[in-house]
Amino acid sequence: MSSKSLILCLLAPLVAGFNLSVPAPTGPFAVGTTVLEITDYSRLDPFAPTPQPRKLAVSLFYPTEKVSQNTTSCHKSNQCTRAIQLPPHTAAALESQTGVPTGILHNIITQACQDAPVTQPLRPLLLFNPGRGASRLIYSDSLIEIASYGFTLASVDHPYESNVVEYPDGSVVYGLQLDESLSTILKLIDIRAADLRSVLNAFSNSTVTDKIPGYGPLTKFKTDKVGVFGHSLGGATALQVVANDTRFAAGLNVDGSFWGAEQQVGTEAPFMVIAAEGHNRTSDESWAATWPNIRGFKREATVKGTEHNSFTDTGLFVEMLGELGGGVPANIPIPIGTIKGTRITALQRALVTSFFKRSLDGENDGLLDGAAAEEWPEVSFQQ
Ligand SMILES: *[C@@H]1O[C@H](CO)[C@@H](O)[C@H](O)[C@H]1NC(C)=O
Ligand SMILES: *[C@@H]1O[C@H](CO)[C@@H](O)[C@H](O)[C@H]1NC(C)=O
Ligand SMILES: *[C@@H]1O[C@H](CO)[C@@H](O)[C@H](O)[C@H]1NC(C)=O
Ligand SMILES: *[C@@H]1O[C@H](CO)[C@@H](O)[C@H](O)[C@H]1NC(C)=O
Ligand SMILES: *[C@@H]1O[C@H](CO)[C@@H](O)[C@H](O)[C@H]1NC(C)=O
Repeated sequence: MSSKSLILCLLAPLVAGFNLSVPAPTGPFAVGTTVLEITDYSRLDPFAPTPQPRKLAVSLFYPTEKVSQNTTSCHKSNQCTRAIQLPPHTAAALESQTGVPTGILHNIITQACQDAPVTQPLRPLLLFNPGRGASRLIYSDSLIEIASYGFTLASVDHPYESNVVEYPDGSVVYGLQLDESLSTILKLIDIRAADLRSVLNAFSNSTVTDKIPGYGPLTKFKTDKVGVFGHSLGGATALQVVANDTRFAAGLNVDGSFWGAEQQVGTEAPFMVIAAEGHNRTSDESWAATWPNIRGFKREATVKGTEHNSFTDTGLFVEMLGELGGGVPANIPIPIGTIKGTRITALQRALVTSFFKRSLDGENDGLLDGAAAEEWPEVSFQQ
């Protein structure tokens, strides 16, 4: 028996029937989640092997009623079934990418309640899209943290680009091997931007919204003025979308370079960049080229101790694995800097919510003007 399979045998008793629990979000709201399949019949999928409409998998995260253990009632409606973070194929893909033993990552449970009803939205809708090739599901905990402050988020995968997309019906689409050329990257940004518009359009279609638990006249999402953000290539897409479609009224780019004409087109809309340490307008020409063309409110926030992949849930996964013991590697070989997972999750939430409250709700908490320097000493701001 090889030593690797020996380790897996020893792990087996530990692996059976356990959960890795993500830490609770820090905001005042309980968070619900549901997964939607959204098909845009007006667009053919640019990658599918046979002609078919573009079909997207979207996770919603939203404030829901405070869920309590009510021992005097058998009423199911306010009980929380915590949602699993990574469905089986997504967990397996991440395990093979990182060397985490098989059967571990599927046991991560988020702090969001599966299919809990949406309540009246307090804050605007935000659309999110992941980094190149990444699953939207490795950002869910960061988005749940934001939702716990009253925001509703729609997190969107880009099938055939994301390494794996699992639909609610269990079907799976794997990512294609795409080249690194500029023309491919520009094509991906266009497809991503069209995907985000398809999702926003779908929220005006009752066939789609009827599938959202609790959705109705009082809980409707406002779709004429939303925010958009993304990590890496998703951040470049955010600029493309605000430049192109005025319903997207504010945008935020988490540590992504810009690539195409959006650099020159720019925008009047409020726009923000969150940067890993060492990523700035000197080290990234695309940021230098774009910045003068961001003509409305703008901020660049740099976070000490971070790397490009700090802005995912990887840091939280590392913290959870560290508590597991039993021979499970307590690390994931993806560079995430020195900042702790719980810390960057809270810090990113503070920046994202401050920006969107300010630019969509006209509420300024002063954070982006440096008002909370004692609470968040890792951040510095440039205009
Ligand atoms: C528990 O459920 C009962 C019956 O539905 C309700 O009257 C009561 O207010 C609930 N208590 C709490 C703490 O939610
Ligand atoms: C793990 O979490 C899932 C989803 O919430 C739940 O159904 C299951 O009972 C939990 N298992 C254990 C061993 O706690
Ligand atoms: C609404 O969604 C349904 C189901 O996806 C689709 O059949 C229908 O064409 C959509 N309606 C519009 C106006 O897009
Ligand atoms: C927005 O994008 C669509 C699709 O790529 C394109 O047809 C349209 O011309 C763009 N509009 C603007 C204002 O850039
Ligand atoms: C920009 O980043 C580079 C490293 O990538 C660093 O040497 C430089 O000091 C940074 N500039 C500023 C103004 O922070």
